[in-house]
Amino acid sequence: MAEKKKYRSSAWYNSKSHRRDTFIHRGWMRNQGHPSHLFDGRPVIGICNTWSELTPCNGHFREIAESVKKGVYEAGGFPLEFPVFSASESNLRPTAMLFRNLASMDVEEAIRGNPMDGVVLLMGCDKTTPSLMMGAASVDIPTIGVSGGPMLNGHHKGEIIGSGTGVWQLDADLNAGKITEDDFVSAEISMSRSKGNCMTMGTASTMGSMVEALGMSLPHNAAIPAVDARRYALAHMSGKRIVEMVKENLVMSKVVSKDSFENAIKVNGAIGGSTNAVIHLAAIAGRLEIDLSLDDWEKCGKDIPTLVNLQPSGKYLMEDFYYAGGVPAVIKQLLEKNLLSKDALTVNGKTIEENNSNAERWNKDVIKDFENPLVKDGGIKILKGNIAPDGAILKPSAASPELMQHKGKAVVFESVEEFHEKIDDPNLDVDENSILVLKNCGPKGYPGMAEVGNMRLPQKILKKGIRDMIRISDARMSGTAYGTVILHTSPEAAVKGPLAAVQNGDLIEVDVNKGSLNLVVLDEIIAKRLKEYQPVLPEIKSGYQKMYIDHVMQADKGADLDFLVGKRGSEVKRHSH
Ligand code: FES
Repeated sequence: MAEKKKYRSSAWYNSKSHRRDTFIHRGWMRNQGHPSHLFDGRPVIGICNTWSELTPCNGHFREIAESVKKGVYEAGGFPLEFPVFSASESNLRPTAMLFRNLASMDVEEAIRGNPMDGVVLLMGCDKTTPSLMMGAASVDIPTIGVSGGPMLNGHHKGEIIGSGTGVWQLDADLNAGKITEDDFVSAEISMSRSKGNCMTMGTASTMGSMVEALGMSLPHNAAIPAVDARRYALAHMSGKRIVEMVKENLVMSKVVSKDSFENAIKVNGAIGGSTNAVIHLAAIAGRLEIDLSLDDWEKCGKDIPTLVNLQPSGKYLMEDFYYAGGVPAVIKQLLEKNLLSKDALTVNGKTIEENNSNAERWNKDVIKDFENPLVKDGGIKILKGNIAPDGAILKPSAASPELMQHKGKAVVFESVEEFHEKIDDPNLDVDENSILVLKNCGPKGYPGMAEVGNMRLPQKILKKGIRDMIRISDARMSGTAYGTVILHTSPEAAVKGPLAAVQNGDLIEVDVNKGSLNLVVLDEIIAKRLKEYQPVLPEIKSGYQKMYIDHVMQADKGADLDFLVGKRGSEVKRHSH
């Protein structure tokens, strides 16, 4: 067999100077029935699979991997599928976010340590997308993303019903006595009727759209339903394309630039994307050594109207979005308004403009236009002030316009446990003008930063027919949730950020237009309270969670572990047998 050193995998499979190692690397692989010609120095493509029966959103990924393999073989590559940690949003406790960084380490080391020249990332459920993108970014070989696609629309009692969003609505109705327990349970099967990830514009669909906007996937990656034959055709074409990318040495850092991130922020505004995108994009950018801060969200997200009429901000679901034209139809509108860096490269070697300028929009109610948007000022608003010196965020498209400027008395919960204990206490001093404040749910305080920021309203308020109040926390919220919810307050209470100083009855002033969030309390009193403050911290002394707490960065920095930031490249020591 001729010695070829063209690609990285040749160091494993084609080295004549280390014959014994080559025998072992190649020989053991042969036990799977791979014929000799597959080891002739052709591109070896890893298929990084987050399949797991415990991650139902990614339960169909073995089938998707088979389509990728067809494309890889067709282009003359050698596909090898490998499993990585699969962080399931619907099952994993205490919160899947706690394991995003752990999964990213698994991905990074699996790619670097194995003989692969390019990698296809199979991603779907919320955290599986950023964890794979982060891990791959730190290695920086040719990389292409393939999302698993959303579930078909849910249908319940004659209405469409969306993942997550429907649950929050049904839960509020159940608590207000508007529906029965039986209605609540019967909605379960109606909601999740096919393979795929949440079909609202939650975090999974948002991150699929971000992958597309960053140029890291072929067009239409985000919206094709999981069970649509075109999803499998896209996987096949991605397999074909990654082989070419290896030949072109088109590594991830050549595709994704600061411009790509700015484009993604704008696309996030136009699709009404999840607040979680703020954290995940920061973490991915950090791995690529691209400086991305909340100021970039403020700068780029401003004046971007929300065009996509999908739950939780609007009415429709991802299946409708795909039939209406999907992400390309949104990108086209942004290009026409000169809002995107049109020369940003994508994985197929074309620019974002070349890929999307001919996109078509088939339904003007699902994908609206600049003249008639769903929300005029969409995107993510960054709020700063004496409660959040490093920033907090709010998604206006999911919030109530009448609460955008509001002054109210704080009703404070020191922990999520205290919240559950007291929220329905008839003696709780709360009315619809109050502001609910939840502390100690940030990256360190509730390790992993739970999605509890969209606190449910007190029953006595729900019974009045009120469905929204301002809520402030250092937590995250599900991308499928809605409400006037201020999240990711940084620094968090557990590290004595000023959120910790808020006490019951304090006045809080929120002005979303001005981007301000302030506690109407004298500075010296805030400082005194912080000095005396004892955060409610989890008792964790060992294990992964200890490492997480010791090293996790604040939300505004992407909540990555501090020692994982940056690229570490694909070089690896030869293992001598
Ligand atoms: Fe997996 Fe929503 S629970 S995408």
